[in-house]
Amino acid sequence: MDNLIDFQALVNSAAAAKEKAHCPYSNFRVGAAVLTEDKKIFGGCNVENASYGVGICAERTAIVKAVSEGHKKIIACAVSTDMDEIIAPCGMCRQALREFGPGMTIACANKDGKYQTFTMDELLPKSFGPEHLGK
Ligand code: THU
Repeated sequence: MDNLIDFQALVNSAAAAKEKAHCPYSNFRVGAAVLTEDKKIFGGCNVENASYGVGICAERTAIVKAVSEGHKKIIACAVSTDMDEIIAPCGMCRQALREFGPGMTIACANKDGKYQTFTMDELLPKSFGPEHLGK
């Protein structure tokens, strides 16, 4: 399955989404892109707010864009930052992603576009999901 996924294209979409980041408080730009089962890509960036807690991460922006357009099955995600090191999604975003793709692969890219892939199970072992609620 994973070998059918164009991670490079997804990383490129995440990097493009990063250009739209609204992060005047942290100056930490993040872009994300999710790939849905029906092969659509939705990008998103972090959108901060003067009322700090209102901000949203790039991954959740991308998820909300996909789901609100009717695409609920996510098979892969890419995240791009401006850091030298490879940054993986925050805990809240791991849980948010998990809801729509327990089997997904996540590609995490540094500022140069070098990326590493992780399975959801690696990032969020023994995770909680809808099936635990009988859904
Ligand atoms: N951020 C993300 O967009 N995704 C993550 O996984 C980690 C953090 C954002 C939130 C905030 O706008 C900035 O990065 C600094 O925490």
